Amino acid sequence: MTQPLRIALAGLGTVGGGVIRLLDENGALIARRAGRPIEIVAVSARDRGKDRGADISRFEWVDDTTELAAREVDVVVELVGGSDGPALTLARRTLAAGKGFVTANKAMIAHHGLELAGAAEQAGVALKFEAAVAGGIPVIKGLREGAAANEIGRVYGILNGTCNFILSKMEAEGRDFADVLAEAQALGYAEADPTFDIDGIDAAHKLSILASIAFGTQPAFADVQASGIRHVLAADIAEAAALGYRVRLLGVADHSAGGLFQRVHPHLVPVSHPLAHVTGATNAVVAEGNYVGRLLFQGAGAGDGPTASAVVADLIDIARGEFGPAFAMPSSALAAQAPADPGERHGRSYVRFAVADKVGVLAEIAAAMRDAGVSIESLIQRGANVDGSVLVAIVTHEAPERAVAQALERLRGSQSLTGQPLWMHILE
Ligand SMILES: NC(=O)c1ccc[n+]([C@@H]2O[C@H](COP(=O)([O-])OP(=O)(O)OC[C@H]3O[C@@H](n4cnc5c(N)ncnc54)[C@H](OP(=O)(O)O)[C@@H]3O)[C@@H](O)[C@H]2O)c1
Repeated sequence: MTQPLRIALAGLGTVGGGVIRLLDENGALIARRAGRPIEIVAVSARDRGKDRGADISRFEWVDDTTELAAREVDVVVELVGGSDGPALTLARRTLAAGKGFVTANKAMIAHHGLELAGAAEQAGVALKFEAAVAGGIPVIKGLREGAAANEIGRVYGILNGTCNFILSKMEAEGRDFADVLAEAQALGYAEADPTFDIDGIDAAHKLSILASIAFGTQPAFADVQASGIRHVLAADIAEAAALGYRVRLLGVADHSAGGLFQRVHPHLVPVSHPLAHVTGATNAVVAEGNYVGRLLFQGAGAGDGPTASAVVADLIDIARGEFGPAFAMPSSALAAQAPADPGERHGRSYVRFAVADKVGVLAEIAAAMRDAGVSIESLIQRGANVDGSVLVAIVTHEAPERAVAQALERLRGSQSLTGQPLWMHILE
């Protein structure tokens, strides 16, 4: 058998530990598939003494993680995390040293992917990040390779397992957000600081990477409009269910002459759509190609095993010498595309208001919608009482988003409203 692919591993936490265990268990099979063994040579983390659930004394320990770039290895695998800091320093040094780089770090790729892709091309080495989007699901490979012949019109999906776990539990048990979040944290499905997950930032990182690969545009994380699920009530989920929908946090991207559209937002998904049936911490991505049609990728979006599976798949590609440009085309060929104006988009909306229980409130909401040119398809007031307020939910007919925004602007400051309205888009 030919020379092993020598690896330096930065980060020995959930994913790093998974990579060691996977290579230990499936090493012989992987060597046959890759044509050569994949061998970890050196490792680094913060605490040398921590129990890793695997014997790490057989590897060289390196105190300064960024020094791994200087080791006698072919590839550095970065599983530390963080958009900047040691992960980014290690990436830059590794590529500058002419070594391959594999990472699961969506934050870093979303922020610095274009620069790193350019550095990898200049050095003629691999930059791979399958595990950065949707964990174990081979969606990057699917788009880069399997669907490479297609013009992709739209890519969208459930990109954050924590949010999907919370929403599907709220749906199944009729419980409110804060209550389910606390349980998700106790079960390890949500971080102690859940902001990145529940405010849609993690999904926005992943969406910007997917959009770049799908459309051949430069990654544009700063242009993703992101909002999360904090303001979704159990009552919204019940109203959606009564109307034939489930609430899911979706990342949606498309591109046209009007620009690149990227949004992470809670949506109403029709129960007839496959994404409505994705529950728990599972992720799912839909890509629509002009020849292949609709592709659905679904599976575990996180966890040590699935994420390690994606990391090692990247290593196998490199061991075979099969890798191309990180974003599916040379970084110089990726188009810089301006963000699309969301006001120009047409669709149906769900808007829920918390209102004072008094005469004339419904007429005020209806008038604001009428004056903005939005017609109402249905209006539901169930008398549900939250903090002394009544909840009123409307579903609009198809309308430009600019018009719905204008209607909400007209209602801003109204004495009839006791809280911020929640606007969710309906996936058609
Ligand atoms: N967990 C998942 O399911 C999952 C899924 C997809 C992608 N990812 C991505 O994979 C990466 C790793 O995630 P993880 O869940 O494995 O994280 P984790 O369990 O927190 O592990 C992080 C590792 O990095 C080490 N580390 C942290 N700060 C460091 C520093 N300043 N210098 C050197 N080492 C440092 C830690 O060392 P100590 O152990 O010594 O503290 C630990 O071994 C992240 O980019 C994450 O977004 C994770």
